Amino acid sequence: MQASPVRKLVPFAQQAQKNGKTVYHLNIGQPDIKTPSEFMDAIRAFDEETIAYSVSNGDPKLIKAISEYYKRFDMHYAEDEILITNGGSEALIFAAIATCNAGDEILVPEPFYTNYNGFTIAVDVKIKPITTKAEDGFHLPSKEEILACITPKTKAIMISNPGNPTGVVYSRQELEILAEVAIEKDLFIISDEVYREFTYDGLTCTSFGNIDGVEDRVMIVDSVSKRYSACGARIGSICTKNKELITNLIKLCQSRLCVPTLEQVGATALYGVSQDYLDEVNVEYQKHRDITYNALSKIDGVICEKPTGAFYVIAKLPIDNAEKFALWMLTDFADKDETVMVSPAADFYATKGLGVDEIRIAYILEEKSLVRALELLDLGIKAYNKAHK
Ligand SMILES: Cc1ncc(COP(=O)(O)O)c(C=O)c1O
Repeated sequence: MQASPVRKLVPFAQQAQKNGKTVYHLNIGQPDIKTPSEFMDAIRAFDEETIAYSVSNGDPKLIKAISEYYKRFDMHYAEDEILITNGGSEALIFAAIATCNAGDEILVPEPFYTNYNGFTIAVDVKIKPITTKAEDGFHLPSKEEILACITPKTKAIMISNPGNPTGVVYSRQELEILAEVAIEKDLFIISDEVYREFTYDGLTCTSFGNIDGVEDRVMIVDSVSKRYSACGARIGSICTKNKELITNLIKLCQSRLCVPTLEQVGATALYGVSQDYLDEVNVEYQKHRDITYNALSKIDGVICEKPTGAFYVIAKLPIDNAEKFALWMLTDFADKDETVMVSPAADFYATKGLGVDEIRIAYILEEKSLVRALELLDLGIKAYNKAHK
C-alpha cells in the first residue's frame, strides 16, 4: 500500500517550518473557507447528557436532510436508500467491499483521487485505469477504448465527477456512455460526487442519479468535507436504489457501529444552509481557478489545461521529476524564508511512468496567499533547474 502523495512530504514541510520557513500548502484539498456557523451552533445546542452511539445507518435527521438536499438536483432517494458514513472515504471503501470479491477489478479514469488506491488495495481489489489525457481536457476516451479495459474480473466503475485531480466535469453524454458500458458488462457504478457544486464557466455537474436505466447499479457518494468546508467533521454518505446493496452496506455500517454523534448533529444543520452560501463559495473558487490558471500559463515551460470543476489542476512542469522537485522545494528552496508544497502527480496514475513530471495543485488558499504561492512555484522551478543542470 502506498503512502499518500498528498501527505507523505508533510514531515519535510514540518521540518521546514521548524527551520523558520513559511510553507504555503497547495498540496491538499483543505479549503480555507470558514465552515458555516450553523455547524457549531447546532453542536452547542446539543443537550443530551450522554454521547450515545447513534443508529448504524446514520442519524435519521441527517438522512432526511440529505434526502431533501438531493431534491434540488431532481434526485429522489428515500430515507431507507441513504446511509451515513465516516466521510466520503468510508463510503468508497464500503462500495468497493460491497461490489467486489478479493482479486476483482474496478475501472477508474486516471489520473484519479490517489486514495482510491488505498481504499481498494486494502480489500485486495485492483484498479484498472482508463487513461485520460490533458490534451483532451481529461475527458473520457471512446466507448471502444473503455470496453477494452474490461476483463471478466471487472465489477464496477468508480468515478469522481467533478474530478480530483483533473478538475474535469464530465458531460451527460460521457456518463451515458459509461451507463451503456455498465449495462452491457453488468457493472456497478460508484459515483463520487463530493465536488458536485464546484463547477465553473456556467457548467453544471450531471449526477449519475439523473441517468436513466442504471438506477439499480448506481451508488452516489457524498460528503460535507468540501461542500461545507467541514473536512474534519468526517461526515459522508452513500445512497443507492439497489435493495440488496443497501442490505449489504448496512452490514458494514453495523460492523463499525456508528458515525460520530455530535458531528452528525452539526452536519444536519449544514444541509440546511441556504443555496446562497454554496453559490458564493462557487464564485470564490472560480476566482481562485482563474488566478491559478493565469499564473501557471505565464510560467515558462508549464503545460496545463484550464480545469472546469473541483479545486485542483494538474500541471506538467519543465523539470525531470516532480517528486524530487516537491521535496527539494521543502528542503532546499526559499525566497524570503517562504516556500510552497505541492503534490507530485505520479501516484494519481495507475499506469507506471505517467505523471512523473506533473504536479497537482489545490487552489484552496485565500487570494493573497495563492498569488504568492504560485510566484514561489515559478521561482522554485527556475532555481531547481539551475541547481540541477
Ligand atoms: C474525489 C474525492 N473523493 C472523496 C474524498 C474524501 O472525502 P472525505 O473527507 O469526505 O472522506 C476526497 C477528498 O479529498 C476526494 O477528493
